[in-house]
Amino acid sequence: MIKPETIDKIFDAARIDEVVGDFVNLKKRGVNMLGLCPFHNEKTPSFTVSPAKGIFKCFGCGKGGNAVNFVMEHEHFSYPEALKYLADKYGIEVEEEKPSAEQQEVLDEKESLFNLTAFAQKHFEHTLHETEEGRAIGLTYFKERGFTTESIKKFGLGYSLNSWDDFTSKALKNGYKKELLEKSSLSRSRDHQLYDAFRARVTFPIHNLSGRVLGFGARILTQDKKKPKYINTGESEIYHKSKVLYGLFFAKSAITKADNCYLTEGYTDVISMHQAGIENVIATSGTSLTTDQIKLIRRYTQNVTLLFDGDAAGIKAAFRGVDMILEEGMNVKIVLFPEGEDPDSYARNYRPAEVQAFVEENAHDFIGFKTNLLLEETQNDPIKKAKLIKEVALSISRIPDAIARSLYVKKSSGLLQVEEKLLMAEVNKQRWEKAKGQRHQPQPDEEQSWEKPEETLSDTQLKTGITLDHQERELIRVLLEYHDKQLVFSQENEDGHTEEYSVKVSDFILDDLMDDELSFENHLCQAIFDEMRQARDEGRELNNQYFFNHHDPQISKMVINMLTTPYTLSFQWEEKHQIYVTREDEQLQKNIMEILYAFKLKKLEKIIYENKEKLKEEKEEEGVMELMKNVREMESIKTMLARELSRIVTQ
Ligand code: UTP
Ligand code: MN
Repeated sequence: MIKPETIDKIFDAARIDEVVGDFVNLKKRGVNMLGLCPFHNEKTPSFTVSPAKGIFKCFGCGKGGNAVNFVMEHEHFSYPEALKYLADKYGIEVEEEKPSAEQQEVLDEKESLFNLTAFAQKHFEHTLHETEEGRAIGLTYFKERGFTTESIKKFGLGYSLNSWDDFTSKALKNGYKKELLEKSSLSRSRDHQLYDAFRARVTFPIHNLSGRVLGFGARILTQDKKKPKYINTGESEIYHKSKVLYGLFFAKSAITKADNCYLTEGYTDVISMHQAGIENVIATSGTSLTTDQIKLIRRYTQNVTLLFDGDAAGIKAAFRGVDMILEEGMNVKIVLFPEGEDPDSYARNYRPAEVQAFVEENAHDFIGFKTNLLLEETQNDPIKKAKLIKEVALSISRIPDAIARSLYVKKSSGLLQVEEKLLMAEVNKQRWEKAKGQRHQPQPDEEQSWEKPEETLSDTQLKTGITLDHQERELIRVLLEYHDKQLVFSQENEDGHTEEYSVKVSDFILDDLMDDELSFENHLCQAIFDEMRQARDEGRELNNQYFFNHHDPQISKMVINMLTTPYTLSFQWEEKHQIYVTREDEQLQKNIMEILYAFKLKKLEKIIYENKEKLKEEKEEEGVMELMKNVREMESIKTMLARELSRIVTQ
């Protein structure tokens, strides 16, 4: 935990132009600096740095943030890593804080889990090499599979005895507590009796990036069809299966060196490929690929090659993996192994040089892969061909960078013999469909451009659940952008005179939401709102610069993206001292009311919908009456609000 004072020092010292300047060639342009965006391919610079505001913003791809956000994004650093990097650059000594008692407890628990898991790894390894059963069954199996003694040692492979509690009893004897054993899921409990999770299985330890063991995969050795072939450690404080990649610890430097990463399906594939001299290889362990895993790979390379079985399941997995990797803006190739072979068996059946040649010669880019695969069955069937075109368009549509997309469209239109324009139209259609689907899901992580998504309410949206994300962001945006502007209202007093009074925008919005006891679903919006409210209670004023330098990198990024439009960062605007007035500014009052009412209306719609859902479930007559009354009341408020909103919009 870095001390807040140290974080302040780092934020004060970090100059955005210097921090970005280490990676991007920046040219002065008015009060700003301009360069080629490091986050997407561009030929004309649209990447703008504002030293005065301490922020960067790319008007091509929409990425924006402060100095900390920049190094996090560019170097794939975590927040503390980014802070330490900047501290180092500016010669600031990093003071760490003692964790609180509560934090200490979590840390202690994690540490104990790590210790226990390390103990388990040693225990299984010892069992493999030093017990009769281990040698006769486990070691013999590994040898028969062609694993060398060197590999078995390197990957820390082990064996668990065919016994109910060999591991559990040894762990208890060594002082590990019952609760901890259960939490680690290495032991299970039934009727207060603890027993081993792994029995008569060979074990593959799964390491984190620094080489500590997080958990295990364990393979059965009998032909028992009723039992799963592999079982894995359950989720725990230290093991999250969707966030680890098997073998990454052993592969990371080879991945950086090759600037490519081979992704396989399992433990045995990784080990056999290592033995064949290919070390930049990792695997998902018993799960389908996740976005978190792809982001982990991206720390080391932009290039992934999928190595999959040529069977139906392998092809399906490859299809899915391809689109997910493209979506992260990375490059992907695919090697399909001959029917019935996987990387492991291939590496066992052929010599290392042959394996290396095979993966190099058979790596297709995703278009080649989809086209080859589907063209075979397509022949001259126009319906099947249309399906193929759609398939390819779907993959291309996942690529975030527009230039890369159009290059792929060009290339595949030739291959598929279809007009470029037609393919591009299909790609755009797919993008649109995807965006439509996503717009209604809350997005916890910020990746927003300033393009306003339009809002329409359809029955299907109601059915799939209403999200208020857009309305919430809009409300926070106007709250921040115009917080110190005045709104003027007129009110008739008792003797019939009209009186004018003015209210600051921030007071108006804060009070209005607090009166109605309304909260935000988006936790970042709620956090900003709470801070504004607390500051006001304490007589402080929070300006936008405060949020630009916010210690929570998600908040700074969100606020910077909300408040930077091409206008607010444009040079004329800066130089002529804010004489640029947006249309929104002129009609401020109207717009704020509109945004506030739209938010409330959506919120009500959601509550009504939820009540109606509850009605379907409710069995008691009393409950039904109560719910119906609620719904009726809210419906009438909703009608009122809607009327008010339409008055504001049309006035
Ligand atoms: P395989 O079924 O080929 O496993 O799956 P194997 O151990 O190589 O078995 P044989 O000898 O060919 O019959 C390949 C990889 O897929 C993962 C494992 O990581 C394995 O190494 N896998 C497979 C699982 O995670 N769970 C399973 O149930 C099966
Ligand atoms: Mn296999």
